Amino acid sequence: MEDRGYADAYWASIDDPRAFWRRAAEQIDWFEFPTSILDTDDNGTPRWFRGGKLNTAWLALDRHVAAGRGDDVALIYDSPVTGHIDRYTFAELTQRVARVAGGLADLGVGKGDRVVVYMPMIPEAVIAMLACARLGAVHSVVFGGFAAPELAARIDDAKPKVVLSASCGIEFQTVIPYKPLLDEAIELAESKPTRTVIVQRPQCSAALIEARDLDWASWEAESEPVGWVEVDAWDPLYILYTSGTTGQPKGVVRDNGGHAVALNYSMGAIYGCDAGDVYWAASDVGWVVGHSYIVYAPLIKGCATVLYEGKPVRTPDAGAIWRVIAEHGVKTFFVAPTAFRAVKKEDPDAELKARYDISCLDYLFVAGERLDPPTYEWLKSVVHTPVIDHWWQTETGWSICANMMGVADAPCAPTRPGSPSFPVPGYDLRVFDDDGNELGPDQEGNVVIKAPLPPGTLPTIWGDHSRFEDAYWSRYPGFYLTGDGGYRDADGYVYIMGRVDDVMNVAGHRLSTGELEEVVAAHPAVAECAVVGIADEDKGQVPLGLVLLKDGVNAELAALEAELVQMVRRRVGAFANFKQALVVPRLPKTRSGKILRQVIRKIADGDPYEAPSTIDDPAILEEIETAFGERGVGRAG
Ligand code: COA
Ligand code: AMP
Repeated sequence: MEDRGYADAYWASIDDPRAFWRRAAEQIDWFEFPTSILDTDDNGTPRWFRGGKLNTAWLALDRHVAAGRGDDVALIYDSPVTGHIDRYTFAELTQRVARVAGGLADLGVGKGDRVVVYMPMIPEAVIAMLACARLGAVHSVVFGGFAAPELAARIDDAKPKVVLSASCGIEFQTVIPYKPLLDEAIELAESKPTRTVIVQRPQCSAALIEARDLDWASWEAESEPVGWVEVDAWDPLYILYTSGTTGQPKGVVRDNGGHAVALNYSMGAIYGCDAGDVYWAASDVGWVVGHSYIVYAPLIKGCATVLYEGKPVRTPDAGAIWRVIAEHGVKTFFVAPTAFRAVKKEDPDAELKARYDISCLDYLFVAGERLDPPTYEWLKSVVHTPVIDHWWQTETGWSICANMMGVADAPCAPTRPGSPSFPVPGYDLRVFDDDGNELGPDQEGNVVIKAPLPPGTLPTIWGDHSRFEDAYWSRYPGFYLTGDGGYRDADGYVYIMGRVDDVMNVAGHRLSTGELEEVVAAHPAVAECAVVGIADEDKGQVPLGLVLLKDGVNAELAALEAELVQMVRRRVGAFANFKQALVVPRLPKTRSGKILRQVIRKIADGDPYEAPSTIDDPAILEEIETAFGERGVGRAG
């Protein structure tokens, strides 16, 4: 918890960041306390906790066992798709993690080596991550919904020694074999892992390739447990790939020291949780929310964390969220708004909630996309707790803005629809116009954060520090470019209105236009294309493809669209929700050839737009508007 009120804590963090974060660093256990709180590395990047020695898995597990909490529940695996509810104590989880770490060490994995984890939401995914952390190895978890080429791109970038995977995932009632996707990815990748270890699930047995693939169960059983490896605060804990504005994903690097301090702070100060509380983040271990708030933060804090292998609806019904909260005594729940939009659609009056006693719930947090005011109002009418929108990114690893529930004066001000409230300590947030002038209240612009970013945020992009500089720091030197547009109102509430770059947000999943355009452009009939994220009632945004056909090609539109949909599913994944493409005679561009994606998006969303002065031919915009009207695209239709 934070013993100061919000404003005191916030200004303390801005006025004297070293003192603020020293105090937070004293709240975790180090093998050696840092020699300096804030410093710069060889790249000139501000870094926290130089010289600190720790081990993140030890902090999350062994430390609690040593403190006498070995019999307390650490992990609750709730899987409606398999009918399992399993609980692991801190002692049990520590033992499995130590053994799996031993197995990895036997495969030659040591400090600094990379391990790719491509798994569904099963306990072994959490164990895999913590086992890497125990060894000081660097995990890179790839969301199970990614298709083989995306997995291959991540394998090529991270160059893992070992890949840990499973025979299948389960989506609703459908078994999705993972092993063929993994085999295809390894085939496609230039960098070949020496070994893969596969959890064979009863729903689907994968064929193992001799000399490369190992069966997890016997591998784990035959391994000897090993101890933890002391790492430096600046050593990388993981790489998590996220979509940038090009087709090539960015490997966000997280270090050990800042991450542990920031997450530990956030669990108390933002989420109002303490050791022994039950915390549930209904995301996926493949996303940043899963890394931070399914795995590391709750365990570091000594909470029990829920790992939910199911959906908000149809596993088996729209009461699933209320069931899990009631059954496990969840105190703080965190989910993407899209999940509640799905629930609301199937159970508009939340009648299924009446079946469960959710009085244990103190706080409901949402993030991953904007909490649209109608969903906010619905949630407010349905739950008895504060409904807290908070804003963050893969890059930051924890929230930039929130209404903090663990400060002395919580809630320091009521929540407001459409706003994630205020910047949390450590984030000096500003709104700039395109020329770098700071904007005043109610003026919308680019949301930026003044350096230094607080602990836990990314210090670099894996293997490409210049990309880190270019993507985040070159536009406004000294200020981190979030890529989000927004404003502050006269009372200081922040409003995040959406990406101002070529990133889209589909059901809380981040995708880049470039990634999808590469796939669409590969179709033999397509001369040129643009993909934009347009507003969607259920998913927040969905991608829309605009294609120009090659001269002389006369493709039948329905067939072309179906082929493009299949291509995106096979090359990126079904979760991209790419379902609509239309043929246009021309694409709106600037005179220098840049496609005006934001303008296309605004036309589809029925939002006001201005043709930029640099547009090649303004008449194209009318053509696009007409094409959207004819095809019933977005709100323009
Ligand atoms: N493996 C394989 N396929 C997957 C998958 C996975 N892990 N996740 C989703 N898919 C598939 C779905 O089965 C579906 O396939 P279909 O088109 O054949 O029916 C498709 O991808 C669409 O997925 P999605 O849009 O995610 O819908 P959903 O109904 O599967 O799930 C939610 C709905 C709300 C549960 C899900 O979108 C969600 O959890 N979103 C929030 C993400 C998040 O936590 N973001 C936080 C930011 S880090
Ligand atoms: P990701 O890196 O996948 O977590 O996606 C980060 C992006 O999701 C942000 O840059 C925002 O565009 C969006 N986002 C996340 N949380 C919120 C929120 N609470 N309000 C508005 N947008 C959000």
